[in-house]
Amino acid sequence: MTVQLWRHCRVATLQPSHPAPYGLIEDAALVLEGGRIAWVGPRRELPADLAARCTGEHDAGGALVTPGLIDCHTHLVYGGDRAHEFELRLQGASYEDVARAGGGINSTVKATRAATEAELEVQSLKRLRALVAEGVTTLEIKSGYGLAFEHERKALRVARGLGRSQPVDVRTTFLGAHAIPPEFAGRADAYVDEVVRMLPLLHAEGLVDAVDAFCERIAFSTGQTERVFQAAHALGLPVKLHAEQLSDSGGAELAARYGALSCDHLEWLGEQGAAAMAAAGSVAVLLPGAFYFLRETKLPPVALLRQHGVAMAISTDCNPGSSPCTSLLLMLNMACTLFRLTPEEALAGVTRHAAKALGLDDRGVIAPGKRADFVLWDVAHPAQLACALGANPRLQTVFKGELV
Ligand code: NIG
Ligand code: FE
Repeated sequence: MTVQLWRHCRVATLQPSHPAPYGLIEDAALVLEGGRIAWVGPRRELPADLAARCTGEHDAGGALVTPGLIDCHTHLVYGGDRAHEFELRLQGASYEDVARAGGGINSTVKATRAATEAELEVQSLKRLRALVAEGVTTLEIKSGYGLAFEHERKALRVARGLGRSQPVDVRTTFLGAHAIPPEFAGRADAYVDEVVRMLPLLHAEGLVDAVDAFCERIAFSTGQTERVFQAAHALGLPVKLHAEQLSDSGGAELAARYGALSCDHLEWLGEQGAAAMAAAGSVAVLLPGAFYFLRETKLPPVALLRQHGVAMAISTDCNPGSSPCTSLLLMLNMACTLFRLTPEEALAGVTRHAAKALGLDDRGVIAPGKRADFVLWDVAHPAQLACALGANPRLQTVFKGELV
């Protein structure tokens, strides 16, 4: 097995126990073995016997190193686009108006159903490449624009395929309960039956890592959401939830009762929801792209989340309707400018806390035993990653111990 030494770098480990901000180690060395981090620390403390075992050496040229970025909430696989709705909203229509008038999620459902698996892959690959170019090494992709067995299956297969062909680890989430498809209009409960029927079939094909739903007055009630969660739990699958995006529907409390990995959006989250999430260890996934793009004015309760010790993750929410965004670095900036997170909280939100939101404890920090997924950046200080607008200072990515 090769043992690789990386030196001449500054490592933002993001380890919570490390006393320096960002877990920063100056003049650091990193040793990789078998796709994992074997050692990280100040170069002068590198054990001589470990140094002697190194079979290869890389000079990082003084770069800043962070864990590989993790985009923990995306709807990246979809057909078509919704630029026309953008125009309508610019003329005064709201996101909910557009959805109620038959646009919104269902217009993407139409385009996604019409696309072949190969066509979907071509469109989705462009978006995925943009994320990977900014240092994303783990990515969650939800279904939810098929809303019928064969089309949900097609989208999840595309997501899995992207993870096989590209240098990124893809985690799939079944979001069958995203919207009520046209053939079930006015029959939401019957559609939930269908979601509950699809889930074990998709799971049996190895296509589902987690289960999500959209709990909102324009989507599914808490009662309907709970039925989906019960079906997930029966299969041993973790759940997460689009909760309190447009109203306080009690979704976060419900999700917490099911031990949700995360509750996402959360602009309307209240005290009880935050307390329930804290008790359950659910991560708050904040989505500044959707907040910005829909020109929301209600801010997620960041002070409340801090007060309750709820871990905050940040994600693109990449989707055609509410956040047509393929830049996780831009989300770092927006999390700070719009939501007032510190740059350190924002960076933890796309590394350590994003890993937690996906139930992954083998990544998100640079520490012995963790996956060797990391990024070299041409920046002097980690805060620059959140400060710059539209820059991409990525130099190189190491994925599973190998230079990409
Ligand atoms: O995360 N909130 C629900 N789902 C997506 C939007 C989907 C769409 O408009 O296509 C979201 O914002
Ligand atoms: Fe979303």
